[in-house]
Amino acid sequence: MQEFALFGGTPAVTPGSVKTWPPITQEDRDAVNAVFDSNIFHGNSAPNAVALQQEFADFLGAKYCLVTNSGTSALHMAIAALGIGPGDEVIVPAFTYWSTAAAVLHHNAIPVFVDIEDDAFCIDPNKIEAAITERTKAILPVHIHGMPADMDKVMAIAKKHNLFVVGDACQAHGAAVHGKKVGTIEDTTGFSTNRSKNLSSGEGGFFVTNNEEAYQIARRLREFGEVVVAGAEREYNSFGLGWNYRAHEFVNAFCRSQLKHLPENNAKRKEFAEYLTAELANIPGLRGPYTPAGREPVYFSYIVRFCPEELGLDVTMAEYKEAMQKILAAEGIRMGQWQRKPVPAQDVFTKKMGYGKGCPWDCKHYNHEITYRGEDYPVTVNFIASHAYLGGVFPPNDMNLMKTYVEGFKKVTSQPDKIMKVIEEDRKAKA
Ligand SMILES: Cc1ncc(COP(=O)(O)O)c(C=O)c1O
Repeated sequence: MQEFALFGGTPAVTPGSVKTWPPITQEDRDAVNAVFDSNIFHGNSAPNAVALQQEFADFLGAKYCLVTNSGTSALHMAIAALGIGPGDEVIVPAFTYWSTAAAVLHHNAIPVFVDIEDDAFCIDPNKIEAAITERTKAILPVHIHGMPADMDKVMAIAKKHNLFVVGDACQAHGAAVHGKKVGTIEDTTGFSTNRSKNLSSGEGGFFVTNNEEAYQIARRLREFGEVVVAGAEREYNSFGLGWNYRAHEFVNAFCRSQLKHLPENNAKRKEFAEYLTAELANIPGLRGPYTPAGREPVYFSYIVRFCPEELGLDVTMAEYKEAMQKILAAEGIRMGQWQRKPVPAQDVFTKKMGYGKGCPWDCKHYNHEITYRGEDYPVTVNFIASHAYLGGVFPPNDMNLMKTYVEGFKKVTSQPDKIMKVIEEDRKAKA
């Protein structure tokens, strides 16, 4: 039996061998340098902004796309472009990055949370209808971890109740449902291109829609509420509240260069993920993610479930997960935590810390009392407690690293007595 690295054995993964995301090529560097040479650094009509929008729209098969300076600004535009505003409710999953709900608050609307599915972890369509009121204007599914939400059901509920659907595809560039990419199914959608995302530009995003009116409103919102036409004299007249959500040309050029490799990078993520999931199915103690039929994920992150019962260990989930994260980290296998509580359990919601003075919940347009409590979302709480995120499941890492991960998992789970020893030591330290 190989000794655990935690007890002085050789780590399964050689230190320093896991490469970071995104892969950077000379082509990326040349693209950014060319912006210096062009002497055009900003503006919605700048050449890289215009070309990038078209290229991303083509990638998705969408009619309209606007490049933005973040995913959050794109999501805010996606809410506002549909006329959602003060007093309106938007249904949001309790498990997401809280920016999803912030985008709703940014336009003075009210997030109403719904728990997630217990297998794919997107919004649970079976719980949406109970959250719909006469104030509801939209459902906001999040394609979390690169897994598309159950859009067949979400769209059917929206149609039945005459609601908009706003997509949060910040983690899901290229994810599809029955072959149709997310961003083309919803009324409006926001994507992020921050550093970690499948399509990375460092910091940025996209607003996407097939709706011409929503597109025109979003264009104004992106640029101070003004209508700025390329080549025409600027009117300097704002048609309403707007922001500066413009993206920079360095970022746009970098993003265009990265976009060329998105399909092959997504294919690599899928290959790695499917291999790991197949292997983990035969390794008691750990499980890979589940993919429902018809949903095509792009594996923004690779989630692993901890299963102490499969090793016959009489321990709590928290004890097992903490010990395994420590043991695996010593083996060079990083299993990180992301969210630590449901979004509605965060202070911004439990204490209603919005714009201050009770806004937007006390707004005269919202004659309703809403209370946010994390414990109302048990599936989310359970997901967070029982899962972690395996690092490095993306290129430029390769199948050799995935195979080494699997060897490391086997090494650790085949020695439950040593896992128990770590748990007992932790118990003593905490006593
Ligand atoms: C699900 C989700 N929504 C929204 C965002 C916000 O995107 P950004 O950080 O680009 O504003 C992110 C990324 O951080 C995200 O993962």
